[in-house]
Amino acid sequence: MSLQLNDIYEPIKDDLAAVEEGLKQVGISDSPWLNELLSYALKGGGKRLRPALAILSAGFYDYNLERVLPLAMSVELMHMATLVHDDTIDNSSVRWGRPTVNKIWGMAKAVLLGDYLFAKSGELTAATENIRCIKLLPQTLMIITNGELAQAASSFKLNQTREHYFFRISCKTAALFVLATESGAVLSQAPEKSIQVIHDYGHSLGVAFQMVDDILDFTATEEEMGKPVGSDLDQGTLTLPAMMLVERYPKDNPVKRLFGGGDKEENITRAIEMVRNSSIIQDCFDIATKYKVRACQDLKLLPDLNAREVLSNLADYIVARRR
Ligand code: IPE
Ligand code: IPE
Ligand code: MG
Ligand code: MG
Repeated sequence: MSLQLNDIYEPIKDDLAAVEEGLKQVGISDSPWLNELLSYALKGGGKRLRPALAILSAGFYDYNLERVLPLAMSVELMHMATLVHDDTIDNSSVRWGRPTVNKIWGMAKAVLLGDYLFAKSGELTAATENIRCIKLLPQTLMIITNGELAQAASSFKLNQTREHYFFRISCKTAALFVLATESGAVLSQAPEKSIQVIHDYGHSLGVAFQMVDDILDFTATEEEMGKPVGSDLDQGTLTLPAMMLVERYPKDNPVKRLFGGGDKEENITRAIEMVRNSSIIQDCFDIATKYKVRACQDLKLLPDLNAREVLSNLADYIVARRR
């Protein structure tokens, strides 16, 4: 049985508890309008991967929780903001096993809540007073936005290459992993070479993470994920499993029919069935595993401290997870 997230987090559980407490404080606002939205958003129940990455990446040199805490909170708030906006863009109604903000309060309030969370994330990073981290945050947001736009521009389009796919997931997901890992290393006064190692780890891990998310959209259940499955095809997003299906059945297949305007339910059900009953899932996992291995291969260049093993365990978890 693979490691559970709580076991992996054990060495940093006090630091993560401090993040949790900090986020709770963010949820308390004087504004009655914000209060309701914020406290709902912050009680979501995510995996807290990004704050964990920030804390662990800061764990190799001069670790100081007080310095890292605003960063760890900041990356989680940035993540939440992107999800609130992502669900609004996708018109998605379930996340973390409960109704989304856009579902309960509508689009306008969801957009504004996302904006507030982005701003709060910026304010917290500014509190680090580290100019490199302060610069990295808006740059990351620009990359994420570009990735989401690239995805929107390519929706329901079949003529996409693997490069398109890797570009999109690098932008929309891996960039935030890099923000967490690189900034953590910077705040611990790591030497430039180590910052590069941790940066590369974050990138490869982020790519592997999104690939697994895309696989789980075909293989998991809404109960496990806490969010709808089959939703990528529903939104016309050509992810790796769908791309492989198109490659294997170039003449006629449900993804082609769906993207050509065919019946949604029938073609999505059929596509999921065909992907599940082929070697596509295994082939996608093999590629995700390659990125995971790549993420971990240079960790040995970092000091032999606890954080190294935890980062490696986290990488294993990310490929094996069901949520
Ligand atoms: C979901 O990320 C968004 C993607 C990048 C696929 P997480 O799976 O890390 O979100 P949490 O754990 O629900 O916050
Ligand atoms: C989300 O990717 C990436 C973001 C920038 C929010 P997905 O669209 O796959 O995330 P889920 O599946 O909705 O969590
Ligand atoms: Mg989405
Ligand atoms: Mg997804």
